[in-house]
Amino acid sequence: MYQTVWIEGSSVFMIQQNLLPFQFEIYECKTYFDTCMAITDMTIRGAGAIGAAAGYAMAQAFLQFRDDDERAVRVREARQDIEHTRPTARNLFYAVERVYHAGLISPESAVVESQKVAQKDASDSKIIGELGSGLFNKKANILTHCNAGWLAFVDYGTALAPIYLAAKQGKEVFVYVDETRPRNQGGKLTAWELHNNNIPHVIIPDNSAATLMAQGKIDLVIVGADRIAANGDVANKIGTLGRAILANEYNIPFYVAAPTSTIDINCPTGKEIPIEERNPDEVLYQWGIDSNGNPIQVRICSPGSEALNLAFDVTPAKYITGIITEKGIVKAHHQSIKTIMD
Ligand code: MRU
Repeated sequence: MYQTVWIEGSSVFMIQQNLLPFQFEIYECKTYFDTCMAITDMTIRGAGAIGAAAGYAMAQAFLQFRDDDERAVRVREARQDIEHTRPTARNLFYAVERVYHAGLISPESAVVESQKVAQKDASDSKIIGELGSGLFNKKANILTHCNAGWLAFVDYGTALAPIYLAAKQGKEVFVYVDETRPRNQGGKLTAWELHNNNIPHVIIPDNSAATLMAQGKIDLVIVGADRIAANGDVANKIGTLGRAILANEYNIPFYVAAPTSTIDINCPTGKEIPIEERNPDEVLYQWGIDSNGNPIQVRICSPGSEALNLAFDVTPAKYITGIITEKGIVKAHHQSIKTIMD
């Protein structure tokens, strides 16, 4: 494992996720605006990692404008820039809020707070792994969607953390990895993580889940979350809703793994969760490498047609067996959520 993002001096460093799984590089963001761009273009992505990066960006803004006569205005503008990078991930707003208030004391306090946010993300993920691994029998076939592994957080991950731990405990786990169109976070990132951790797995096209479930090949579904509403509705990578409805049809437990920092207690239901719409080119084109290992982009759809690229969907609470948080595994129900948030 490796930390996905950290701050050193006034620079933020992160794993360049757009190059994975083909190249492993560290990317440096010298200003808060560089960090904003890295969040927007998904150099860094995944709910917890976005949150940590956003907290660091806020701290960078306090450092950057410390001697500016208009610093109060500048950091407020910076906060808006950071909050406009990606609208769905709750952790981004949670981190910015915490670091902004600390920064009103001093830029140094902002840095310390941003590091606390990142450390908490890693320690929450570790606990989620410990609690979640108890859900697996000696042998379990698991389906996951998108990437909610250590790359998507500061460390450990959420949906994948229980799988890593269960494998360490000697349980026989096998993971069906949805490729997760259009950006293929499953096929590229989750598969890369699992491969590096020697976890048996296979990448499946997104439209295979129904057949595999009908054939009895899946014991359990576990996914991450980008925002959880107060009633237990969950926004996660587009395609999650379909998996949840299928799991319900085939009586397969469907778990969401997320820290409480992903819960938006002020958002009453999934209907109020803002859903990011991304560039249609992500659907129309694909990135990969050629036979010489050089990055290439190819158009894979009919020229002249447009595409619609909704990045997330909302799974109603009724389809969710439980939410694995660092405070316990709870029902996707407003009362249970209120109890862990109080
Ligand atoms: O668009 P992304 O890659 O930032 O989406 C976030 C995700 O990785 C998934 O939706 C994930 O399942 C949520 S938990 C990191």
